[in-house]
Amino acid sequence: MRFNKNVQDILNKQVNAEFWSANLYLSMSSYFAQKGYAGFANWMRVQYQEEMSHALKIFDYIISRGGEAKVEPIAAVESNWKNIQAVFDSTYEHECKVTDMIHNCYEVALKERDHATANMLQWFIDEQAEEEEAALAIIDQLKLVGDNGAAIYMLDKELATRVFVDATKTA
Ligand code: FEO
Repeated sequence: MRFNKNVQDILNKQVNAEFWSANLYLSMSSYFAQKGYAGFANWMRVQYQEEMSHALKIFDYIISRGGEAKVEPIAAVESNWKNIQAVFDSTYEHECKVTDMIHNCYEVALKERDHATANMLQWFIDEQAEEEEAALAIIDQLKLVGDNGAAIYMLDKELATRVFVDATKTA
């Protein structure tokens, strides 16, 4: 089946959104590094790497279908937040938006009867549920620890252990 133009267009928008997400998390990583939270900074740097791999996973898919994968300008991201909690609130809100975008891609694929793309997007639908859950879990922990410095220190140590899993290497 010839690669559908509407599907190609919405997937290219998603590639751009994933690159934007990568920059957002890299900016959050910088914010945490400046404040001395090395573990939070690591968690966000891994998040950045994951978003890059999401972008490339879709990018590679477009190419595999004989389409044109586009490298478009990426809009600026924020660089300052009120506190740790605000960073993770933004993360959760952002991931909910990305989930909507992925669902929209999926609906366009089905409308155009492009079942191969719908199938590829299934991975992202599952991934989004995990991303929302991960952000919510940290928000819950932050609520529990409040402004207890020792507990924040422990959480920072825990988030230092997160490692990158390359989405382009998983089916
Ligand atoms: Fe690639 Fe966090 O969505």
